[in-house]
Amino acid sequence: MALSEEAQRIVAKFDYTNEDVNEGVQEFLRQMKEGLEKDGTSLSQIPTYVTSAPNGTEKGLYLAVDLGGTNFRVCSVLLGGDSTFNLTATKVAIPKDLMVAESSKPLFQFLAKQVEEFLRTHHDDHFQAYIQRRKTLSSIERVREEEIFHLGFTFSFPVQQLAINKGTLIRWTKGFDIPEAVGKDVCKLLQDAIDDLHLPVKVSALVNDTVGTLMTRSYTSPGKESAILGAIFGTGTNGAYIEKMDKIKKPVQGSYDKSTGLMVVNTEWGSFDNQLNHLPDTPYDTQLDKESLNPGLQMYEKRVSGMFLGEICRLALLDLVKDPAISLFKNDSQTTVAEESGLNKQWGLDSALLSTAAEDESEDLSKLKASIEKELKIFAPSLEDLKAFRDVSAAVVRRAAKLSAVPIGAIVLDSGNLETDEIVDIGVDGSLVEYYPKFRDMVMETLASIEGIGEAGAKKIRIGIAKDGSGVGAALIALVATRME
Ligand code: BGC
Repeated sequence: MALSEEAQRIVAKFDYTNEDVNEGVQEFLRQMKEGLEKDGTSLSQIPTYVTSAPNGTEKGLYLAVDLGGTNFRVCSVLLGGDSTFNLTATKVAIPKDLMVAESSKPLFQFLAKQVEEFLRTHHDDHFQAYIQRRKTLSSIERVREEEIFHLGFTFSFPVQQLAINKGTLIRWTKGFDIPEAVGKDVCKLLQDAIDDLHLPVKVSALVNDTVGTLMTRSYTSPGKESAILGAIFGTGTNGAYIEKMDKIKKPVQGSYDKSTGLMVVNTEWGSFDNQLNHLPDTPYDTQLDKESLNPGLQMYEKRVSGMFLGEICRLALLDLVKDPAISLFKNDSQTTVAEESGLNKQWGLDSALLSTAAEDESEDLSKLKASIEKELKIFAPSLEDLKAFRDVSAAVVRRAAKLSAVPIGAIVLDSGNLETDEIVDIGVDGSLVEYYPKFRDMVMETLASIEGIGEAGAKKIRIGIAKDGSGVGAALIALVATRME
């Protein structure tokens, strides 16, 4: 068989039809309801204690930190009160040895240190004034409220939220594994590390990145409708939406503002259908899961988010390469796969290469060729090789985009907002939606194929990027939390 046909055989394994999408939506709606009724379900449906969305008039200076998948970000956000904000941010890669470790202490020490450096660099006047005063402070005098920075902590992992500024880690996801931290209050872990450095910072709110994205979209989005859903399609994937309190049947302990009758719910949809009632499953998905840090968990995320798409693609390509009868990367005597090629290593194919493949519209795929040589250390691939790479990688991402429409479609239908005249607004963030060409278009097209949405419904749905969503959102929630105090 020609290589192109072999590639199409693999492509077909990633088919996810419109009928599948519709079945997925029904299963998602079922699991959403189940998650609102009891704990321990596949979709965690975590009440977040956030009971209202901002309207753009919020004002003030807040700090925010964001521990996500790959980087740690520290920022200060000056909310202008007119839907605008000014953001000062720094970003640092999280050292790998802190992500998988025995103890979480070094990780939180590292985070606190970054906060200290940020304050020294960007808010030194304020910081020095505080240090001066602290030296003269008697032990019974308290630090003045105005000297303290209120900080929103975006922690992008599943947390059982107990209050706006308290929550215990349910499990790690993405590239993290520090078993000792599971069950601990992550806000306290950060506050303790901050206090050890005597910083004038109070961790006022604990926020999932999807909740931050939802808040930011509501703060900045044009028009009167506030967003109903905030979603991340980045290293990991997840969504948080606005739910009616009376549909949350499981107990929500502690105090929160009951006046709106609403609460933001963090679905933790990365774990949608862990039992594989519905999700598509190729041999590559199975292998990826088996060799992952958390087999059997985050099964939806492992088919959708940036951390995993490159690896699925790698395993699929490797399947072709391993077969001596198939010519991939070997038909031409000049083609060489270097021993240290990422093709032969777990996580060795960065998902960014999938974007490069989709971007290259040239006939000879020269940009893709250059990237494969540089990134994957596969030299002089033939045009047929490049086409096979492009087609397989596009199929992996197409399936991910169609799968992405499943929770979005379900939440839109569940909101009932399509029946009103209003636009249904959704805020998204993350490398996949931001950088993969036409990812959002593929999601929109799929939404139109969902029963109950259709072409007409899809026209009423607006999916907009909420850039820097998690940082600004965390600041907004820190503001609300400070007011509540
Ligand atoms: C985490 C979520 C997070 C998402 C996006 C997932 O792995 O479980 O809490 O929102 O990644 O960062």
